[in-house]
Amino acid sequence: MGPTRVPGLLFGGDYNPEQWPEEVWEEDVRLMAEAGVNVVTVAVFSWSRLESAPGVLDFGWLDRVLDLLHAHGIAVDLATATATPPPWLVRRHPEIQPVDAAGTRLEFGSRQGYCPSSPVFREATVRLARAMAERYRDHPALVLWHVGNEYGDHTVECYCEESARDFRRWLQARYRTLEGLNAAWGTSCWGQHYTDWTQPAPPRKAPGPVNPAQVLDWRRFSSDALLACFEAEREVLKEVTPDIPVTTNFMSLLHHLDYWKWAAAEDLVSDDAYPDPADPLAPLKAALSYDLMRSLKRRPWLLLESAPSAVSWREVNVPKEPGVMRLHSLQALAHGSDGVMFFQWRQARYGPEKFHSAMLPHGGTDTRQWRETLALGADLRRLAGVAGTGTRAEVALLLDWESWWGLEAPESLPSARLRLHQLLLSWYAPLHRRGIAVDLAPHGRDLSDYRVVIAPNLYLCTTEQAADLAAFPGRLVVGPFSGVVDAADQVHPGGAPGPLRELLGLRTEECWPIPDGRAQDVLAEDGTRLVARTWSEWLELDDAQVLARYRGGPLDGRPAVTRRGAVTYLGCVLDDPTPVLDEVLDAAGVTGVTGAPLPEGVEACRRGDHLFLLNHGAAPATVTLPAPGADLLTGRPLSGSVAIAPRDAVVLRL
Ligand code: GAL
Repeated sequence: MGPTRVPGLLFGGDYNPEQWPEEVWEEDVRLMAEAGVNVVTVAVFSWSRLESAPGVLDFGWLDRVLDLLHAHGIAVDLATATATPPPWLVRRHPEIQPVDAAGTRLEFGSRQGYCPSSPVFREATVRLARAMAERYRDHPALVLWHVGNEYGDHTVECYCEESARDFRRWLQARYRTLEGLNAAWGTSCWGQHYTDWTQPAPPRKAPGPVNPAQVLDWRRFSSDALLACFEAEREVLKEVTPDIPVTTNFMSLLHHLDYWKWAAAEDLVSDDAYPDPADPLAPLKAALSYDLMRSLKRRPWLLLESAPSAVSWREVNVPKEPGVMRLHSLQALAHGSDGVMFFQWRQARYGPEKFHSAMLPHGGTDTRQWRETLALGADLRRLAGVAGTGTRAEVALLLDWESWWGLEAPESLPSARLRLHQLLLSWYAPLHRRGIAVDLAPHGRDLSDYRVVIAPNLYLCTTEQAADLAAFPGRLVVGPFSGVVDAADQVHPGGAPGPLRELLGLRTEECWPIPDGRAQDVLAEDGTRLVARTWSEWLELDDAQVLARYRGGPLDGRPAVTRRGAVTYLGCVLDDPTPVLDEVLDAAGVTGVTGAPLPEGVEACRRGDHLFLLNHGAAPATVTLPAPGADLLTGRPLSGSVAIAPRDAVVLRL
């Protein structure tokens, strides 16, 4: 049983009863019970209904909702309701509304209208969280606290004066003195030397490019400022209800928040995942972010929101074809989720999300959607034994948010085309195709469990981080433009790869971005032809050996891929790094979870002694099984191989 103490897998969704007359609630709980829903998220946006004026609290309706849910055996992930400050608070304190980089204060009328640094906002959230915790501390339905909602979704940062003051406090704690700040920000450049602590400010819209070191600290600060909002509420919840786990729903691979830090502050990692059904790469991208969720605490996590079918916030909102909701739900389980939850239970009749799909659609129970909801509930009951089981990965991808922020800083880099998500995917895709389990890992984590560690990019790499990597006993692969700057975004003496130079046995004399649309041939020493795009480097080798060279173009004949000992370096972005990767994996003895090649479109993952085989492809696929077992979804005993229809899946208990 996981931290929520709900037995088996969790199944349910966001439930917004305040959008419906009370008569409808009876039908809701009856249908929830019919579908096997065992948990719902309640009160995410309920602040203005719970507190109609300062200190005027009305919990009556929420009491009735929780009692009704409990009476039907449904547990509650209770939100602290602080995701939208109520109109009375905003009108009394207009200063809590966020301000954008150009200085415009944003209006009320949507959600997340708050400045993360506002003491008025933070105090009001903490008061409400305390009132909620005291009210429901002993309610038997309460199994999980849901703080805020999707921090960093609409409001990532605020550029107001209050934020500026908070930013200065943060800078003072980091640098102590103005000299320290001036040195770290390199303010001798472009005449930015600060002489008083009232002068440094958020990187607001300026006539030209803003100091990138200032922007990097702003990213750090903004992630921390939102985290402080979360932590302020968590502290109260932990004081009043120490045994109830606390989460906040993450947003997959979100650029703006350092989820390593955030995950350390919560009891259970939960994620909202909305892969686009129209994107052929959706299963790949989802797999990567689910592996991140599992890796954040190296424990099962929870898919807290997903779309039963279409969303409402893309320009074109394509529904999920029959079977896809089930397949995508099973995929989250395969990658470590202990449940499947949706936004939302009942489809809204009004508001910006009235066309967003729901478990129970506008059309009611005589619909394909509802039939698929019922069927999924039944599947999840069959898979109850999956809950709590773990994944053993021998390969890790290094992911560091600070480096990501530095790499994607605006207007100061040799190329704006190096995007970390794409770089991660380019390595993840061939691993995924081979059914190889992958963890993501931050700097500083003990890597000794892994045979292969891949750092797709380490633009920012400190001497300490480089020393950790040098101590890794397995095979290491480092991607281009790594070891470039230190923690203050200052180029390491001598240039890249800075503190990684000895480990890689080379130096990057010049960065050589490849113009858009141009392909650069690369020829491996064994004759394999590769293609680089976006990025190449003029490398000078110390004691590394050459694995591949550029062929033609400005770097003709120069090294493109190198090796020193167990460390491989790529000075370019390869379209498909599979040949380089395969060689490393084979040398390390890493194989996929089935031990055999997988047919196109099939994803294979192992959790405990459960083997998930998911056919995302459009054609039937036959998969060789590593051992006999029973398919938990159908009860069939299987051995040898199994044919899987398009969008179907097998969950084999080995
Ligand atoms: C999430 C959010 C939900 C709902 C959902 C729709 O970002 O947390 O409240 O808006 O998207 O896809």
